[in-house]
Amino acid sequence: MRTCYAGQVSEKLLDQTVTLMGWAHRRRDHGGVIFIDLRDREGLVQIVCDPDRPEMFKVAEGVRNEFCLKLVGKVRARPAGTENGNLVSGKVEVLCHELEVLNPSVTPPFPLDDENISETTRLTHRVLDLRRPYMQNNLMLRYRVAMEARKFLDEHGFVDIETPMLTKSTPEGARDYLVPSRVHDGMFFALPQSPQLFKQLLMVAGFDRYYQITKCFRDEDLRADRQPEFTQIDIETSFLTEEEIRAMFEGMIRHVFRKALNVELGDYPVMKYAEAMHRFGSDKPDLRVKLEFTELTDVMGDVDFKVFSGPATTPGGRVVALRVPGGAQLSRGEIDSYTEFVKIYGAKGLAWIKVNELAKGREGLQSPIVKNLHDKAVADILARTGAQDGDLIFFGADKAKVVNDAIGALRLKVGHSEFGKTSGLFEDRWAPLWVVDFPMFEQDEENNRWAAVHHPFTAPKDGHEDLMATDPGACIAKAYDMVLNGWELGGGSVRIHRADVQAKVFEALNISPEEQRVKFGFLLDALQYGAPPHGGLAFGLDRLVTLMTKAESIRDVIAFPKTQRAQCLLTGAPSFVDEKQLRELHIRLRNPVAAAE
Ligand code: AMO
Ligand code: AMP
Repeated sequence: MRTCYAGQVSEKLLDQTVTLMGWAHRRRDHGGVIFIDLRDREGLVQIVCDPDRPEMFKVAEGVRNEFCLKLVGKVRARPAGTENGNLVSGKVEVLCHELEVLNPSVTPPFPLDDENISETTRLTHRVLDLRRPYMQNNLMLRYRVAMEARKFLDEHGFVDIETPMLTKSTPEGARDYLVPSRVHDGMFFALPQSPQLFKQLLMVAGFDRYYQITKCFRDEDLRADRQPEFTQIDIETSFLTEEEIRAMFEGMIRHVFRKALNVELGDYPVMKYAEAMHRFGSDKPDLRVKLEFTELTDVMGDVDFKVFSGPATTPGGRVVALRVPGGAQLSRGEIDSYTEFVKIYGAKGLAWIKVNELAKGREGLQSPIVKNLHDKAVADILARTGAQDGDLIFFGADKAKVVNDAIGALRLKVGHSEFGKTSGLFEDRWAPLWVVDFPMFEQDEENNRWAAVHHPFTAPKDGHEDLMATDPGACIAKAYDMVLNGWELGGGSVRIHRADVQAKVFEALNISPEEQRVKFGFLLDALQYGAPPHGGLAFGLDRLVTLMTKAESIRDVIAFPKTQRAQCLLTGAPSFVDEKQLRELHIRLRNPVAAAE
């Protein structure tokens, strides 16, 4: 039996004999002495193999990288000057007495200590990639986070209840993954996009406080923070108000950070959706970036510059400035590349003013657009932005959505740039917040109708029930998102527990009674049996751990993730299946050629 982990050998064990098992991370032959870095999940320790034990030394000579080893040895201090401050075991080494190769290894396809291996190689050889200390640390932290969340939830009376994976389409709004039924010709299960409807049913069933750390499946375009199957810490409670739910789960996230990372999360502002859009053009603002929009829509209506006056006088248009303190030092080339950048978000251009010397009036401003602006407009811009000598002011003018997306992205791009970091525009800290008071509905422009911003079971604010019929766009929901460093970490809402209010929502969404029955009949029926007031939320565990580990991608905190193209390079899934299986499932392929290739 092992006496301790390799990574835990420290000065506390000086002069003791230890038995260790692990892998040869590196082996160095110093002519006469062989050093092996033995690695296990807790870290590394240096093993010294001296030739004065010939039998052991002979084994050491045959050891290569990634051999699985067992050894017995004595812990001793490293000679002065050879300590390694980066390792727990950095002050000691183990003088090897006995060495056994438990299993040799073929040469790995890449050196495990190479930091620059392509992701394709890493995902194809995921088992070896997972052996690397970086991935071991990420997954160990993931475990601690999940465990601390469970402890918190258990202490607060939440009960873990499983919900089905083979189910019916759920209302999160992404595309479903479908599973054909063999028994019922032509019928399909959907994998759950979330346990949303089941957790509400559990509230009606009286379980009162539910949680589950569970997989969700969404067939949507993948990005750095998205996977087709991902894990939610999913929660629902009865009888709590919106404020009480938020307070409790802010407490959970604080607890997780304290226990798993030893970090005290500080200020936790609560910001209305409207304020977030107004100041940052985003419903998940990264508050580490110290740049804000300046509203100009109301003062640009009468300028000659059509680029500004157009959106300023068109309903749904918006004109904003983004003042970048010290930005006048940016070159034309840099400004041009920002102009190209905002075009990704649909912006047609990026007007700007360099404020060289305020005291000189117009003469002190350098810009392709000031000639088209009258004196009052220039004065309004300078006063509202609070411009100082040396600043750069960017402008966005278009439909509000384009301005918010483009200038919101520009704000992040500038804030996170080298210039932003060295100019104090970026604060390196944890920046959590709640975004609350989301609208109930948004215009689905493609289909020209209202769509639920969260999902159709979200309750309207008290007193907003009638607005659903008269002015859906003005109706505010009891919905909330938790945001951390610009990522949506979690979100939820107070649900509708009364059939009459639910009917009004379906009416506003133009969901016919027949469609309601087919899709959600089982939930609507359950709500009739004295359903308690209830609400909840779900956190993205993968996202939480990505932020906590500062990993570059969500794939670095998932043992066996999918690529951006929704494939598993390790197993080769998805893959073709044989004709017999298809026939049993009553399926004929539309493109059998692809399958035959
Ligand atoms: P929502 O759809 O906002 O809410 O999801 C909750 C949280 O899950 C995470 N998340 C994802 N993580 C990785 N990859 C994805 N594709 C992905 N999609 C979502 C995010 C998000 O904040 N049933 C509701 C919750 C509720 O109302 O209680 C729901 O699923 O971190
Ligand atoms: P133009 O008169 O179209 O050449 O534009 C003059 C300046 O305004 C250029 O710097 C453009 O990049 C900028 N610009 C054009 N369209 C927009 C827009 N919708 N929002 C902000 N700036 C714009």
